[in-house]
Amino acid sequence: MPDRPTAPSRRAILAAPLALVACRGEAAALAPRADPAALKSGVPFPVGTCAMTGQLADPRWVHLATTHFSQLTPEWEMKMEYILGNDGSYRFDAPDRLAGFARDHGLRLFATTLVWYAQDSAWFKGLDRARFAREYDRYIATVAGRYRGQAVGWDVVNEAVAEDGDGLRTCLWSEALGQDGYMIRAFEQAKMADPEAVLFINDYNLENNPRKGATFLRTVERLLRAGAPIGGIGTQSHLDIEIPAGRTTAFMRDAAAFGLPIHVSELDASLNGERRLDVRSRTQKLAQQQARVTELAQAFSDLPAAQRFAFTVWGVRDTDSWLRRGARDDGQDSPLLFDAAGQTNPMFTALEAGFRS
Ligand code: G3I
Repeated sequence: MPDRPTAPSRRAILAAPLALVACRGEAAALAPRADPAALKSGVPFPVGTCAMTGQLADPRWVHLATTHFSQLTPEWEMKMEYILGNDGSYRFDAPDRLAGFARDHGLRLFATTLVWYAQDSAWFKGLDRARFAREYDRYIATVAGRYRGQAVGWDVVNEAVAEDGDGLRTCLWSEALGQDGYMIRAFEQAKMADPEAVLFINDYNLENNPRKGATFLRTVERLLRAGAPIGGIGTQSHLDIEIPAGRTTAFMRDAAAFGLPIHVSELDASLNGERRLDVRSRTQKLAQQQARVTELAQAFSDLPAAQRFAFTVWGVRDTDSWLRRGARDDGQDSPLLFDAAGQTNPMFTALEAGFRS
């Protein structure tokens, strides 16, 4: 008599819906929905998206953003590229508008980013060492201080790990203030400016590239041991849908070991892999995207409640995505939850499935 079959694991059950959808033809669940239940109402943690002032005048964007999301991240207008002029002047009109929009619509405001290798303002390049350090501190104190009581958290340091995961990036900040020094200083300045904000270190490809993920977590540990007041871990999750099942779950488990809040900070899942030629059908790629997105949502949902800081998708509609701008735009990519018309993509269903786990 064969043993009673053991009950299928939760993971197996969860992986099933998408397969079930496919094989039982429940295409309805994946068909575009014009008016799905609000994403944020189905989960016990903030669900975020990014925004820029140009979108605030678009009623369809406003409807989707305020219906489905409970947190907003300025996509670029709260960064140094917008705020700091080459003459050392500061401007806050756009970030203030985004902060006001969040407040007026009952959305949490999450801010990105104070220090980023990719935005080394010309203003700093002309300063001597002493002035550089003073202006570095001043920038962080001024910007983080301005949104004290408005921003629930900051990406204090963004993308410090080398692209291939072999060590850390050198950048204007590291050359002036030290490889770890610039990061420790940034966290200390941000803590003084806004003691209540949750202070994150944020990076990408941490799931996609285990070596980079490991270097990132070693860096977090080293900075914490050095006394940096890191309050959270941000994994951007610009997902590579080609990665094997389980890789995302493994990184989330390793990141959770610090006991810190975790922010999935910039989820999108491009259908266009790095490969030159991809002969798979769109349906095949969508199925792969759904599987990876469900796994990420599931891994985040499995975190202890205190560690589920927020789950942010990097844009509302496909056409709002940075991946659909300029030379990157192939007119076809579908990296987000809603299509150009504001109807749900299969990724929306995949996220719902993962959150339900
Ligand atoms: O809207 C203005 C337009 O009016 C102007 O003519 C044009 C040329 O100056 O610039 C437009 O603003 C651009 C903005 O994106 C909107 O398209 C900015 O120059 C450009 O710098 C900005 O890029 C942002 C980028 O970060 C750099 O800040 C992207 O929107 C944003 O999606 C991207 O987000 C990053 C995360 O911060 C970090 N992780 C990767 C992620 C994607 O690159």
